[in-house]
Amino acid sequence: MATFERRMDKRVLRIADTADELAKAVAEAMAEKVSRTLSQQPLFSLVLSGGNTPQRLYRLLAGEYALQIDWNRVHLFWGDERYVPYDHPGSNFRLARETLIEPLHIPGENVHPMPTHIDTPSQAARLYESALRAFLGNAPRFDLVLLGMGTDGHTASLFPGTPVLQERARWVAVGEAPVEPRVRLTLTLPALNAAKAVYFLVTGADKAQTVQRVLAGESVLPAALVLPREGELVWWLDKAAAKGL
Ligand code: 6PG
Repeated sequence: MATFERRMDKRVLRIADTADELAKAVAEAMAEKVSRTLSQQPLFSLVLSGGNTPQRLYRLLAGEYALQIDWNRVHLFWGDERYVPYDHPGSNFRLARETLIEPLHIPGENVHPMPTHIDTPSQAARLYESALRAFLGNAPRFDLVLLGMGTDGHTASLFPGTPVLQERARWVAVGEAPVEPRVRLTLTLPALNAAKAVYFLVTGADKAQTVQRVLAGESVLPAALVLPREGELVWWLDKAAAKGL
């Protein structure tokens, strides 16, 4: 799928005409990245995003791109989760289970959802971090992290002005959302910025102004703080979200 590429400092922008074309371009890039990586290492660690934007992509990955990725060697993690049961309509895990995991019959041992049934969210965050450390070792160098962005500039469950933005050591922490479900688990900035690659997927005219502010480096916006130290950072945008750039 044709995308127009621009570079802005550390960020690469890839802009497609429509959200459908964007999803196809991202699926293409993911298939290529996974197969290239799996020719060098046994497993691929993929962090999924929640929200609506990635649903087109997940359906594509489970559809026409299903055979282009060796899903038996891909391990799924989450960038954030609402602190609700897995069958709750707002659960990011439920979204992925319905659009990706079940259609692709991804093996259970490859699926690492954030726990939302533990006594307290902070205990759940600790538990998830130990699961990540067991899989990744002493650095959260995920092979690919998928992220979305809200119109307020939040990403994962890192919302503007919340304490979790100050977290410099832990990989997983409790996030506070201004909308229900308010209690979240989220990867922290240190974890996101240790990734080998981060893909932001942002579509729609309603996000165009925030995209401009983030790319201009407005640090009050959490999405502007995601700058992988050594990793690739691609902002995948449709034309509507890229308006004014
Ligand atoms: C979540 C997501 C969140 C999402 C943005 C954008 O749990 O909601 O992780 O960070 O990516 O809110 O959501 P949309 O794609 O629905 O606009």
